[in-house]
Amino acid sequence: MSTKEMKQQRQADYDIDSIYLDRWSPRSFSEKEVPEEILMSVFEAARWAPSAMNMQPWRFIIARNQEDREKFHSFIMEGNLKWCKKAPVLAVIISNKEDGSHAFDTGTAWGYMSLEAWKKGLITHPMGGFHKDKAREVLNIPEEYDIQALIAIGYQGEKEDLPEDLQKREQRSERRPVKESVFEGKFE
Ligand SMILES: Cc1cc2nc3c(=O)[nH]c(=O)nc-3n(C[C@H](O)[C@H](O)[C@H](O)COP(=O)(O)O)c2cc1C
Repeated sequence: MSTKEMKQQRQADYDIDSIYLDRWSPRSFSEKEVPEEILMSVFEAARWAPSAMNMQPWRFIIARNQEDREKFHSFIMEGNLKWCKKAPVLAVIISNKEDGSHAFDTGTAWGYMSLEAWKKGLITHPMGGFHKDKAREVLNIPEEYDIQALIAIGYQGEKEDLPEDLQKREQRSERRPVKESVFEGKFE
């Protein structure tokens, strides 16, 4: 997509860095492997997210070889598996429930990751559509951790390589205007 087409699709009401408009979650992955240094820089960004009392409740379990990827595939729902099977890296994000604001803080870490990945020429696609109980069992996740999301990470592939129904959805989405999310003085 050219910069011009991109700008036509997503427009900010107020001035922000272009990365917020450029980043999106494609489903078409190429099978190209992600070099160690680049992959780890994505988690490095997460490392510097703020958290209550600096508790850093996030943990990441990654799969980047065929054996581990197949383990992850066993708990991903079919609607997601059909496109994310090609992703070279999968990451399950978990958070330690013993930290009061673990979900909020881990969401911040994921946001940082997604932007750093985009900066490095990678794409990310978060998923809630997987069987969490099975993931807990397969990945040996302790009870004190909540399972937040599964992320596919890699390089963008061709739209035409997706099944036809998904090709139609392979585009940047819109957002409601900022003024519909911000209330002044009281909730409206
Ligand atoms: C917690 C979470 C769960 C999601 N689950 C799925 C999913 O199971 N399958 C999917 O295709 N997309 C999933 N998404 C992607 C969202 O639909 C997507 O981020 C949203 O529509 C905004 O689009 P954008 O990321 O391209 O800007 C999920 C996103 C988040 C943050």
